[in-house]
Amino acid sequence: MKSTEHTPNPLLDPMLPALQSTALVTAAAIGLFAALADGPLTATGLAARLRCDPTGILRLTEFLAAAGYLVRQGDRFGLNAITRATCTTDGEMPLTHWLRFCGIQLAALGQLTESIQDGRAVDLFDLMSGPEARLTHQRAMAQTARPAAEWVADQVPVPKDARRLLDVGGAHGIYSAAICRRHPPLAAEVLELPDSLASATRVAHEFGCSAHVTHRPGDIRTTTLEGRYAVVFLGNLIHHFPPEILAEVLAKLVTHLDPGGTIAIWDLAMAEGTADPVAAGFALFFYLTSGAGCHPSSALTAALEAAGFAEIAVARPPQGTTHMLVTARRI
Ligand SMILES: C[S@@+](CC[C@H](N)C(=O)[O-])C[C@H]1O[C@@H](n2cnc3c(N)ncnc32)[C@H](O)[C@@H]1O
Repeated sequence: MKSTEHTPNPLLDPMLPALQSTALVTAAAIGLFAALADGPLTATGLAARLRCDPTGILRLTEFLAAAGYLVRQGDRFGLNAITRATCTTDGEMPLTHWLRFCGIQLAALGQLTESIQDGRAVDLFDLMSGPEARLTHQRAMAQTARPAAEWVADQVPVPKDARRLLDVGGAHGIYSAAICRRHPPLAAEVLELPDSLASATRVAHEFGCSAHVTHRPGDIRTTTLEGRYAVVFLGNLIHHFPPEILAEVLAKLVTHLDPGGTIAIWDLAMAEGTADPVAAGFALFFYLTSGAGCHPSSALTAALEAAGFAEIAVARPPQGTTHMLVTARRI
């Protein structure tokens, strides 16, 4: 996820970005991208295929073409390379479940005013009724993990002959499975919230991680951990924790690491000193949904030091995204 500079436009900004996200989520929900996977169609043909209103489909396809998501050839609309790669299930980097999950995230945004006024977070899980929604969440996270996992796994220092990895809030287990594949006989235990355990286990199987990953229910804030691990991994989890909870979690984890063991934290980094709309935007979203936000790398480094970790290193992916990978060792 790359940070982009933005020029303010108070006339259009309160309207167009919301329309664009809603149009994308709607197109995915009605199967518009899938319907165009075999080739371009007219709006009328598309409407017949999707059993939708032809004028509505024409407006939607025109808007998606103007936003760069569809190509218009005469009166037909088709996928471009990016849309084919990301918005169709057979694409090179499918984000189809992420598009669906964004529909749930958009519902939460409607409560931002109340949240900011009374400081209460909106629990995304309250908006996710039924097992299908939780599956969508887990599959969405899996799709965002897949492109990053190999680079992340390459960067995590693993002690020789390591056997146990704890993946806290690991969901699909894609990151920990990638680490384990590089360091046999390392095996991962994913600690997941009890309500997400069944969907996480299923998605781990769907994404080919079951050979390296087992799941157990628990909340890292309250669950008693057993024994020690060679590696602890936390992927996209600490943005759910305000600084005081993060400190408690790190203090707990350090006691369950082998001496010389590694902690690796992969998350969106709050920019320091510069404006970064991606980090600041997600930090606002995590405030809304968790009462927390993105941590700057300096704050995370200080929290790791305070918990007793050493050899702290901060790495950024080569694509220059907003994520950071922070690794440290227990001495
Ligand atoms: C944003 S997802 C990240 C999933 C995966 N680690 C990744 O990077 O793609 C956060 C996951 O952490 C789990 N989670 C949230 N709070 C947790 C807690 N206190 N203890 C354990 N798991 C937690 C959620 O159920 C969810 O599956």
